[in-house]
Amino acid sequence: MRRLFPVTDETVARTPGGTPGEEGVGALAEGPGTDGAGGVGRAHLVDREWSLAELAAAYAYPETGPAGGSGAGGPGVWLRANMVSTLDGAGQHDGRSQPISGAADMRIFGTLRALADVVVVGAETVRQEGYRPARARAEFAEAREAAGQGPAPAIAVVSASLNLDFTLPLFTSPLVPTLILTGAAAAPDRVAAAEKAGARVVVAGDGVGVDPARAVRALVELGHTRLLTEGGPRLLGQLVAAGVLDELCLTVSPMLTAGDAQRIAGGPSVAVPQRFELAALLEEEGFLFGRYRRT
Ligand SMILES: NC(=O)c1ccc[n+]([C@@H]2O[C@H](COP(=O)([O-])OP(=O)(O)OC[C@H]3O[C@@H](n4cnc5c(N)ncnc54)[C@H](OP(=O)(O)O)[C@@H]3O)[C@@H](O)[C@H]2O)c1
Repeated sequence: MRRLFPVTDETVARTPGGTPGEEGVGALAEGPGTDGAGGVGRAHLVDREWSLAELAAAYAYPETGPAGGSGAGGPGVWLRANMVSTLDGAGQHDGRSQPISGAADMRIFGTLRALADVVVVGAETVRQEGYRPARARAEFAEAREAAGQGPAPAIAVVSASLNLDFTLPLFTSPLVPTLILTGAAAAPDRVAAAEKAGARVVVAGDGVGVDPARAVRALVELGHTRLLTEGGPRLLGQLVAAGVLDELCLTVSPMLTAGDAQRIAGGPSVAVPQRFELAALLEEEGFLFGRYRRT
């Protein structure tokens, strides 16, 4: 893993012979994620294995509170998406993202989960990818406790139909109860089945569907402010259209698949393309790991 951006002459000049955790950051710092072990110094220009702590620092959420990050969901609330795409824009192959992912992508995937309070995911991704509950990982236990987080993020499944297999471990045996975000008009028998399995059903829409902005508010009301969505494309498209996405963590996989796979965000296009800025770019084995923030 090595950092391709931010890297400037100024950064390198300021950090001669820096080692992880000792790098100067100064004016180039963009908040958490570029200081300490995730610094922008020379050590990160060299291709080498990064520790999970370094990855966690590189992907830290903006600080909450008045001086920190303020996302579209309000002060201290930050919604990021983590998605992988091939060079030709495919967001899946044979209905799954695993064939277009790689080892470093999976490490970052796990790190992003470990930083999050809640992982928001569309029901089709849960069905297709066989979602399981998030694990508690010893490597992140201390940091999560210090951040006031439970041992693992909750998974929040967005569904109108509630056509989900409630006998799966995702619903019956998560560390933290799985949430189901749905509309007020959801079928009562499906709501009852979800609750009987142990899930917590949260209404975030007046009809059968979920209003994305209301979903964010509902999660914040439950105490979740570090939000992560793992898609899929139909859900991500709505979050983009609703203007509630603060950051996209995008893996560009060095693969071509052709075909007619979905790209990472679908649904109706927005009226005006939304501009994001590149905050960081990492590379490993030809995979590019970008962080883009809303401007
Ligand atoms: N490249 C990547 O990083 C990535 C990431 C994730 C997934 N994927 C791939 O994407 C594919 C699945 O994605 P997808 O776009 O088809 O589906 P999706 O976004 O995961 O899920 C769509 C489903 O979510 C529910 N939903 C979405 N918006 C809703 C709303 N506003 N209110 C209520 N429910 C809502 C509906 O569930 P109900 O039908 O239950 O009502 C809908 O059918 C899979 O092949 C997966 O491998 C790729």
